[in-house]
Amino acid sequence: MAQHTFLKGPADWWHQAVVYQIYPRSFADGNADGIGDLKGIISRVDYLAGLGIDAVWMSPFYPSALADGGYDVDDYRDIDSRIGNLTEFDQLVEALHARGIRLIVDLVPNHSGSGHKWFQEALKGAPGSPERDRYIFRDGKGENGEIRPSELRSHFGPTAWTRVTEPDGKPGQWYMHLFASEQPDWNWDNDEVKADFRKTVRFWCDRGVDGFRVDVAHALVKDLANGHLPERESFDVSVIKPNGTDDLFDRDAVHEIYASWRDIFNEYDPPRMGVAEAWVAAERLPAYASEKGLGQAFAFDMLGAGWDAARVKQLAGGAIERSHNMNSHTTWVLSNHDIVRHATRFGLPNGTDIGKWYKPNRLDPKVNVEQGLKRANAMTALLLALPGSTYLYQGEELGLQEVLDIPAELMQDPQFFRNPELGLSRDGCRVPLPWTREGSSFGFGTNGSHLPQPEWYSGYSVEAEDTDASSTLNLYRKAIKLRKALVTKQELKWVKHFFNKNVLHFVRPNGWHCVTNFGTKPVALPRGEVLLSTLPLVEGKVPANATAWVKN
Ligand code: NOJ
Ligand code: CA
Repeated sequence: MAQHTFLKGPADWWHQAVVYQIYPRSFADGNADGIGDLKGIISRVDYLAGLGIDAVWMSPFYPSALADGGYDVDDYRDIDSRIGNLTEFDQLVEALHARGIRLIVDLVPNHSGSGHKWFQEALKGAPGSPERDRYIFRDGKGENGEIRPSELRSHFGPTAWTRVTEPDGKPGQWYMHLFASEQPDWNWDNDEVKADFRKTVRFWCDRGVDGFRVDVAHALVKDLANGHLPERESFDVSVIKPNGTDDLFDRDAVHEIYASWRDIFNEYDPPRMGVAEAWVAAERLPAYASEKGLGQAFAFDMLGAGWDAARVKQLAGGAIERSHNMNSHTTWVLSNHDIVRHATRFGLPNGTDIGKWYKPNRLDPKVNVEQGLKRANAMTALLLALPGSTYLYQGEELGLQEVLDIPAELMQDPQFFRNPELGLSRDGCRVPLPWTREGSSFGFGTNGSHLPQPEWYSGYSVEAEDTDASSTLNLYRKAIKLRKALVTKQELKWVKHFFNKNVLHFVRPNGWHCVTNFGTKPVALPRGEVLLSTLPLVEGKVPANATAWVKN
């Protein structure tokens, strides 16, 4: 019988937690097959503890055909054999909990993988059967149903519909997938689907999991009244119809699902939590982050802030005020497994459109690596000082840049294959971590890595940075530990610098000041003890592209 370990503690542990995202396939390889796994993570829990983080969020580790890096889940209550097994999962929970670190797992409720038992049953079932009703099957248009039900595109292009071959061998109905064709969307009007996800939530809560990151949390409930979904101009937040009336996204009824999960969360001590990946208008986010719902929702608009004091202030201030009004909590993020690493983004001129810029091997403008890292660290220190919780992505604590030269034939991301005209790939931020300066896959494992690592990884390895007092790794360690001691009421006051619009300065109720210099000349700091500076001070002043914390 497996051992399940539970970590007690305050119900609000996550309100201002620092959470570290692990992309399991790329963190550490424990069995020499080039793929990261649970054993590898277990072998690195002391590294995680040394960072001072409160929790780990693990991206999917479920059985999967890996059509979308594991976000195509074939079984929600098991572990992919390449990643480990449930016994190792329990060992990992135990090892984390023993160090006071909580675990958040990724739940993918909008779609399954096409290998899921229920999708396979749906393929064998007849049109209109209960098996098909768990997904979104529709007849095609045209004389023989040969025209897809609508012009809806998938996020990964080109179409959101795939035609199936019926059990009699003839071409038949079509099913809908907002992402790759290996990711059929669930029908959330179906009661069996609802019940099965509640079972999954309970399954992981019972295994000691502390929370859930909910994938595309705004897409589950769809208006299928017309039997099909029309083409949309884009998937941008700006084209989602307001007030919960969009066909596809952010419909009010989605909150009924989260309320039903909340009932389960609240059966545990402390109650479990959820964090929504919801690409919705900022005003709509607090509903996902309500204590009647998941609890948290990523404030993604900060990703587009650029290096701009006024914009950062506007976005941070707005998010904090809205969550205050709704009795929820802000959740900051600068990098994850879907976006170009922020050390690279900040190395580009302000306003660069990453979608247009990112064309493998022909990047213009070039990345200013030095500037990118300085600004990335300054922004991280700024977000760590704000009220709310902050999510970090593996490798950002090493100052890793995006890997921009992965050969096309080694790419794994379906976004790359399904949207060739864009050339966009998320593999560059998913390259396995460098642990040592040298050796096979820089210590990721003993037998290579599933995505190629560049030579410059050596200098960013944990080994290279561990004992270097000026490294990004030691900056993160210091900042996270200081923050733990400093964290206070979720309030802040902006301090105006009338003569310098390029300074962002706020103070928390306990006298914890955070000053970020978005300009070019060093700026003076408030009186008090300087606790941290992301770059060495210049005659007592904080230099350009840096953040300092002062306590008075
Ligand atoms: C968001 C995930 O973060 C991303 O990696 C995935 O491709 C899509 N959702 C679809 O599950
Ligand atoms: Ca492995």
